[in-house]
Amino acid sequence: MPYKANTNRYQKLIYRRCGNSGLLLPPITLGLWHNFGGKKSMTNESKKMLFRAFDRGVTHFDLANNYGPPYGSAEANFGKVMNSDLNKHRDELIISTKAGYDMWPGPYGEWGSKKYLTASLDQSLKRMNLEYVDIFYSHRFDPLTPLEETADALTQAIRSGKALYVGISSYSSKQTIKMNKLLKERGISCLIHQPSYSMINRWVEKDLLSTLKKLGIGCIAFSPLAQGMLSDKYLRAIPKVSRIADNSSLDRKMITKSYILKIKELTKIAKKRGQTLPQMALSWVLRHSIMTSALIGARTVKQLDECLDSQNNLMFSSDELKEIDKFAKEEKINLWAKSSKD
Ligand SMILES: NC(=O)c1ccc[n+]([C@@H]2O[C@H](COP(=O)([O-])OP(=O)(O)OC[C@H]3O[C@@H](n4cnc5c(N)ncnc54)[C@H](OP(=O)(O)O)[C@@H]3O)[C@@H](O)[C@H]2O)c1
Repeated sequence: MPYKANTNRYQKLIYRRCGNSGLLLPPITLGLWHNFGGKKSMTNESKKMLFRAFDRGVTHFDLANNYGPPYGSAEANFGKVMNSDLNKHRDELIISTKAGYDMWPGPYGEWGSKKYLTASLDQSLKRMNLEYVDIFYSHRFDPLTPLEETADALTQAIRSGKALYVGISSYSSKQTIKMNKLLKERGISCLIHQPSYSMINRWVEKDLLSTLKKLGIGCIAFSPLAQGMLSDKYLRAIPKVSRIADNSSLDRKMITKSYILKIKELTKIAKKRGQTLPQMALSWVLRHSIMTSALIGARTVKQLDECLDSQNNLMFSSDELKEIDKFAKEEKINLWAKSSKD
């Protein structure tokens, strides 16, 4: 049966302006880092997640060249779903991709050179069968490539019509200011920054958020559920079906005593608000006026629905925030810290 979109899809979510731009994004964005790869196609559940997300007003899907495994397969699988079902909604969708991490062998397959970024964007467009992406990101700061060159590559992506907007990910506040200036000099705006941010990974609060506000750049926080750690799933054991059990980007060493204590206390606070911990974690990330979107991953439609239901309670009293602050403290989980170190 061909997919038919829910006609009420725009009635629930309140879209947020991305920095000073004209672009509105949904408060929850679905990312395809995990659970959308596979050599032949994505699973039926993953396909259902894309449709459910769109049915509930999620207009933004986030990808990168190397999402899979294998590398490139999340884009290729997404391209198939675009072809079969979503292309008729192309003008209702914001599709992003990135280049920066390891993608293909040799000296031109990662980091921030013009050679890599340009070739990678061409490959991404082919895999997704798209004429353009809405947002193209420099996926990480490259300390060895002149930032001017990365800015040239992003500028070219826009000038060639292959991207409508550009963004950066996991750049420090200082490098964000530099990149913003370089893009401005080239007549381009930096639309958005994509940093990691959650209740147990709060590095952006030091100076990045205020910088973004000052510069009028939007912010989309990735891993707002700390890859699933901001839920009750790891309280008793490691579930067989979980990111830790998948042995991928989450390590069982991250399940520490201090972590368990925090989760128990935060869960109690969430309950008082009539939310689950994942829901409160998302509302909490979105409490900043500068925050455009919370960029989640999901394994099932059920998880996705639970996350989207976070939008039923976005308000926090100052007492609640104070109580949360007692337990929402750093755990050593920021895998991307190196990129944002000056
Ligand atoms: N720019 C970058 O460098 C970068 C890096 C990382 C991610 N990202 C982007 O951010 C997106 C999201 O990252 P992420 O997947 O780490 O985000 P996340 O939302 O923090 O974690 C997603 C995981 O949380 C668990 N989960 C989701 N909803 C749940 C619920 N309602 N109840 C219980 N558990 C729930 C699931 O884990 P289980 O699978 O264990 O059930 C799911 O796979 C990625 O897809 C990608 O687009 C960008």
